[in-house]
Amino acid sequence: MDAKLGPDVYGIDRWGHQFLTVLPNGDAGLRDVQNPEADPISIAEIVADLGERGINSPVLLRVNSFLQSSLIELNEGFAAAIKEYEYQGAYRGVFPIKVNQQAEVVERIVETGRQYQYGLEVGSKPELLIALAQRIAKDGLLICNGVKDEEFIRLAILSCKIGFNTIIVLESPKELDLVIKVSKALGEKPRLGVRIKLTHKIKGNWAESSGDRSSFGMTTDNVVAVVNRLKAEGMEDCLILQHSHLGSQISDIIDVRRIVSEACRFFTELKALGLPLKFLDLGGGLGVDYTGEKQSNENSVNYSLPEYCEAVVETVKYAMDDAGIAHPNIITESGRGVVALSSMLIFDVLDTTLYDSPTMPTIQEGAHHLIGDLSAIRDYLTEKRLQECVNDAIYYREEVRALFRRGNLDIQSLALAETVFRYLVAQFKTLAKEAETSEQLEEQLGNFADIYHGNFSLFQSLPDVWAIDQLHPIMPLQRLNEPPQRDAVLSDITCDSDGKIDQFVLADGISPTLPVHDLSEDETYYIGVFFVGAYQETLGDLHNLFGDTNVVTVALGEDGEFDLLHEVEGDTIAEVLDYVEYEAQACLSTFRKRVDKAVSSKKLTISERRVLIEAYKDSLGGYTYFEK
Ligand SMILES: Cc1ncc(COP(=O)(O)O)c(C=O)c1O
Repeated sequence: MDAKLGPDVYGIDRWGHQFLTVLPNGDAGLRDVQNPEADPISIAEIVADLGERGINSPVLLRVNSFLQSSLIELNEGFAAAIKEYEYQGAYRGVFPIKVNQQAEVVERIVETGRQYQYGLEVGSKPELLIALAQRIAKDGLLICNGVKDEEFIRLAILSCKIGFNTIIVLESPKELDLVIKVSKALGEKPRLGVRIKLTHKIKGNWAESSGDRSSFGMTTDNVVAVVNRLKAEGMEDCLILQHSHLGSQISDIIDVRRIVSEACRFFTELKALGLPLKFLDLGGGLGVDYTGEKQSNENSVNYSLPEYCEAVVETVKYAMDDAGIAHPNIITESGRGVVALSSMLIFDVLDTTLYDSPTMPTIQEGAHHLIGDLSAIRDYLTEKRLQECVNDAIYYREEVRALFRRGNLDIQSLALAETVFRYLVAQFKTLAKEAETSEQLEEQLGNFADIYHGNFSLFQSLPDVWAIDQLHPIMPLQRLNEPPQRDAVLSDITCDSDGKIDQFVLADGISPTLPVHDLSEDETYYIGVFFVGAYQETLGDLHNLFGDTNVVTVALGEDGEFDLLHEVEGDTIAEVLDYVEYEAQACLSTFRKRVDKAVSSKKLTISERRVLIEAYKDSLGGYTYFEK
C-alpha cells in the first residue's frame, strides 16, 4: 500500500478546499477565494519573505480576501434567501466586535460591509467607543448589548443625533430605569430593543448561553413588565427591536429553526401588544465547520451558509405570514462565521522529543536478565503478536525501573534497558501502521508519540484549544508531497504541561497525534493552525509572559505574489513587563548596578560587562518568543 501524502493525510479537501491547496513542490498554497483562477501562493514563501523583512515566527497571518469573502457570502446568502422566499424585509447584519476587536479587522469589516448596510454590535463601553469611531454605512445598525451604565446610555442615545442608528438592547427592567432617567435628562427618546431569554437549549460548548440558565436576556415576566413600563411612560414607540442570542456555534440546523421559531412567537405576541417592532435580531450562532465533518458536533456543523440563511428567512417568513404581520428586518450578529477563516497561526518547530530509536544496542553478557527478556521480544515480534509484545515490553521496563528505584540496578543498566525499549517502540510503531489495532493498543502506542516543540504559546494564541478543547485544522506547511514518517503531539513554549495539543483533525477523523516529517538540519519546519480569526486573539493571555505574536495582513495577488497590507509587531519583552507593572528602565538600572558592583569587585571584566548589559537591553526590546 502506498503511503499517503499531505492532502490525503490532513483532510484538506474536507475543511480547506476553497482556500488551501498543495503546490507541486509540496508547500501548502493559499488560494484566493475571491479569485480562484489566480495562482495559489506558498505559505512557506510568505513566511520566508516576512522573515527577510524582520517579521519572524510565530506570526498570525491574516488574509484580506478571506475576511472579505466570508462577509460577502453571508450578506449575499441572505440576499439570495430573501429573493427566493419573496421575503419583504431586509437583512441588516452586524459584526460583534468582541469576536475580533483588532482595529485592522473591524475597519476592514466596516469598509467591506458598507455596500450591504452592515453594522456593528457592541457589548461594552470600550467596544461602543470603537464603533462610534467607525464610518458605518448610512443604514447600518449599531446594536448595544451587555451591561450599560449611564455614560454608556448617554453616548448611545446622543450618537443617533450624529447619524448612527444606535439601538440600546435592554437586558433587564433595571436597565430600563436607567435608560428612562438618562433619556429624560437629555430630552431625547432612545431607540430600544428588548433581549428575550429563549427556552430552547442548544447542544455543544455554548449550551449555557442558551435556555433558562443563560445569564443574559429577560424572562417573559420581565419582558411584559418592561413593555408595561414603556407604555406607562408613553415610550412604547421606542421599542423597535427584539433580540435573542441563539448561542454560539450552533451545530444543528434543526436547532436554528426551532430557536428562530421561538423568537418569532415572542415577536408576534409583542406586535399584538401594539409595539412597533421593526427588527428581529437573532444574535450569533452561525457555526464554522472546523473539522469538515459536516456533522452536528462541537467542532462541526450539519449545514452550509446558504442553508443557514434559507432556514432563518423561511422560518421567519412563515411565522410572520401565519400571524399576518409584515416581515421584519432580520439581523444576525454572526461572529465566528465571519472572521474564523481569515487568520492562521504559523509557528516553527524548535525541537523534538522522540520516544523511539532505530538502533538496537548490543547486550553484553552479564546484563541483568530482565534486559535480556526485554531485548528477546524482538525475536517473537510479529503483526499477530503485537499486543502481547507491547504488554511484555511495558512490563519488563517497569520491572527494570523498579529495580533501579530500589537501588538494585545501576544507571548504565537502566539506560541500556531504556534504549532497548525505545528500539522496540520503533518496531511496534512500524508494525502498527499495517496491523489491525485495538483502541487500547493505539492508546498505549500514543504514549510513545513524539513531542514536537513549537514556538508558540497555546494560552496566548489558541486559548480555546486549552479551555474548551476546540479543534482547529493543523498541518505542516511544507513537504506535503512526502509521506509523513512520524506521529507527534505538539507542545508549546510555555512551561506548562497543559500547553500541548493532542487532538488533530485528519482525513480519517480525529487523531491523538499529528503525522509529521523528520526535521531536517537545513530547513525550518513550519506548522499552520487554521480558522483562528474568531475569539483567539482576544481571549489569549500572558502565561509565562509570552505576548502577542506578530500579525500581518496580506493581499493575495494574481501571479503567486502577495502584498503586505498591514503589520503589527508582536509585544516586546519591555511591553509585557509593563503589563505586569515592571518598568523596563528601572529593571535595567537595577541590573546595571549589580553588574557594576561585580566589575568593581573584579568578578566581571569590562568587556563582559558590555556583553551582559547589551544582552539585557536587546532582550528588553526583543520578541517574547524564541528568536534565532
Ligand atoms: C450577543 C452575542 N451576539 C453575537 C455573538 C457571536 O456569536 P457567534 O460568534 O457564534 O456568531 C455572541 C457570542 O457569543 C453573543 O453573545
